[in-house]
Amino acid sequence: MTISARLIQASEVPSAERAAFARDVLEGLSAEPKHLSCKWFYDTRGSELINSIMDLDEYYLTRCEAEVFEEHAAELLRAVGDEPFELVDLGAGDGRKTGILIRRFLELGARFEFFSIDISESASRSLAATLAREFPTLAGETLVAEYASGLAWLAERSTKRKLVLFLGSNIGNSSLDGARAFLGELGLALREDDLVLVGADLVKDVDVLRRAYDDSRGVTAAFNLNLLARIDRELGGHFDRGRFRFYSTWEPRTSAIESYLVSLVEQEIAIDALGRSFHFGAHEAIHTESSRKYTLAELARLADVSGFSGEAVFQDRRGWFADVLWRVAKTKGRVPALPQRARARR
Ligand code: AVI
Repeated sequence: MTISARLIQASEVPSAERAAFARDVLEGLSAEPKHLSCKWFYDTRGSELINSIMDLDEYYLTRCEAEVFEEHAAELLRAVGDEPFELVDLGAGDGRKTGILIRRFLELGARFEFFSIDISESASRSLAATLAREFPTLAGETLVAEYASGLAWLAERSTKRKLVLFLGSNIGNSSLDGARAFLGELGLALREDDLVLVGADLVKDVDVLRRAYDDSRGVTAAFNLNLLARIDRELGGHFDRGRFRFYSTWEPRTSAIESYLVSLVEQEIAIDALGRSFHFGAHEAIHTESSRKYTLAELARLADVSGFSGEAVFQDRRGWFADVLWRVAKTKGRVPALPQRARARR
């Protein structure tokens, strides 16, 4: 048995993706205040940079979650039960987080198949190759699909219990309302008794939070500035990145690190594909990302309002990060569409 990639749905057509990018950039740079969506961070260069961020000492999240999996995999498995199950990863990225869980589950003798769902064919193929190399006995498939089609395909294929992973604080890149909508629809696409494991970063010392999102090597700054470089590459933008600086701050009112690119001077930036220019005042900011932090009480409420019941909370030793295990509370009898590639991701 080994992992392979399966095309459920046509992979995103590059031109359709580019048109959506162009629409978002037009809307976001015309708005007041200006904003760009963090979902556009992840081109090839952005995916390399997020992997470098995850290696930084200051970006504690990845190591905290790895510790949770190393320490609590057995308890997690007990909560899942003895029957064979399906491990389904939404937003697996390069698979490094899930890889730890898979390794621990295999060591513990768990009987499961692995599935990931991602609309990117190249990401799915490369994840399949990595997992096949690291875990030659692991069965399953990396599905090329939107979440809704992937989950529908899995539901038709078998009635085995599912443990769906939404890891790495990806949930933090949505607003509270966005998170509730996404999780509510995810619950509706699952069967009663299926489980979800959500990795969430917790509210903590402000200095720890700020350092994680403004690292000393400037990788997070480069990650944000790459968004301007992507506009230049794909839409014929004329940004001079030296005329912008990255700025991030803890905002207690949104319970989030808010990230921005700030124009250092008054300037006019043309974007050829949009056939127009955008005016930036000196010190004007573009909002690029919210990274929301939760309390355990907020997570419990989120489970409740999204149609789940809390089963267990797993934390690292310092209590900085939580992986919460929720069970689908009730079946609503329909499978609605999930938001397009809720791409808080990787
Ligand atoms: C992907 N996401 C959970 C990361 C986060 O922590 O919000 C993205 C990131 N942004 C800056 N550093 C990492």
